[in-house]
Amino acid sequence: MESAHAHRKDEHLALAEAEYRRHQPVSSLEQVRLIHQSLPDLKISDVSTAIRNENFNFTTPFYIEAMTGGSIRTGRINQQLAEAAKETGLAMAVGSQSVALKDKDAIESFTIARDTNPDGFIMANIGAGHSAQSAQQVVDMIGANALEVHVNVAQEVVMPEGDENFLWLDNIIEIIQTVSVPVLIKEVGFGMDATTIKKLYENGAEYVNIGGRSGTNFAVIENRRYRDKEFNYDFLYDWGQTTAESLLEAQSLQQKPIIFATGGIQNPLDVLKAQVLGAKAVGVAGHFLHTTLQDGTTGLINEITNWQQQLRKLYALVGARSANDLTKVPYVLSPELQNYKDQRQL
Ligand SMILES: Cc1cc2nc3c(=O)[nH]c(=O)nc-3n(C[C@H](O)[C@H](O)[C@H](O)COP(=O)(O)O)c2cc1C
Repeated sequence: MESAHAHRKDEHLALAEAEYRRHQPVSSLEQVRLIHQSLPDLKISDVSTAIRNENFNFTTPFYIEAMTGGSIRTGRINQQLAEAAKETGLAMAVGSQSVALKDKDAIESFTIARDTNPDGFIMANIGAGHSAQSAQQVVDMIGANALEVHVNVAQEVVMPEGDENFLWLDNIIEIIQTVSVPVLIKEVGFGMDATTIKKLYENGAEYVNIGGRSGTNFAVIENRRYRDKEFNYDFLYDWGQTTAESLLEAQSLQQKPIIFATGGIQNPLDVLKAQVLGAKAVGVAGHFLHTTLQDGTTGLINEITNWQQQLRKLYALVGARSANDLTKVPYVLSPELQNYKDQRQL
């Protein structure tokens, strides 16, 4: 019999799939238009989409973002994701491992990712409320190359059993200072503003994923888990900053961490736009989960391979030979997004 915590992981999975693209995507990346280049003056064979960083060297700038683990079913999904990651050279993150700190039976649903892809770049994942010791434990559990520490205040608020203690900053500082691998602070889908990103940077965070509202929506998912109860937070469905808005927030800072993006990434053009707006690497969760559930591991491998090939061609459309050139790509914002930028004085 699996624990209630493990059961919650299965519910998240089922509801994320049920809600997939049920609402119009609001990544607001569709509100960013990149300017086409008719004379890119390059050969596609010259294009490299690899990203180089002291700690994050990815051959592909997008990766499989944190989702699963904790139950038998989600362990199987982690295995499928890890198989696809291995085959395509993608980095991946496992879902929150806090369940495996309490329940030893859940450990295997995470270690399966490492067993499947022994040499791959795999990120551990834990909530910001956990101690540095627990953070190190989840890193060691899967021999992780990096650790994602998620901040999910809006999700906790919507969950009746959610945390009510959000004194996270000291924890985050300690985790960054003591854990043996690079740490990426990650929102789960409500975005970040410039002040938050600045605060994280000033407190030692070198890597921040702005995790914008746009795709998988944990206000919807948690609310649906309790839809029969008095708890109802459906008025929070559009809470938070979208992925594009959060990237504009980050752009406004002179000094900042290396920015990652997640939230509503549906195709390689979204990846490119997020990179042009300043993301070093781009996480994809819901879409890759949906592909896996619909088309299996082979389907996911095909989808990732297509994205990899298409992204190289998209670089050519904006005249970029490498990620470094993307910062010079001109773009136009929709009136709505420009209005956000103006009102926020970004
Ligand atoms: C089923 C599911 C479970 C998730 N669990 C976690 C988690 O445990 N930890 C975490 O940091 N993010 C978790 N996420 C959030 C994703 O990593 C990502 O930030 C979010 O889904 C937005 O990306 P998307 O629009 O591409 O899905 C989960 C997402 C899904 C779909």
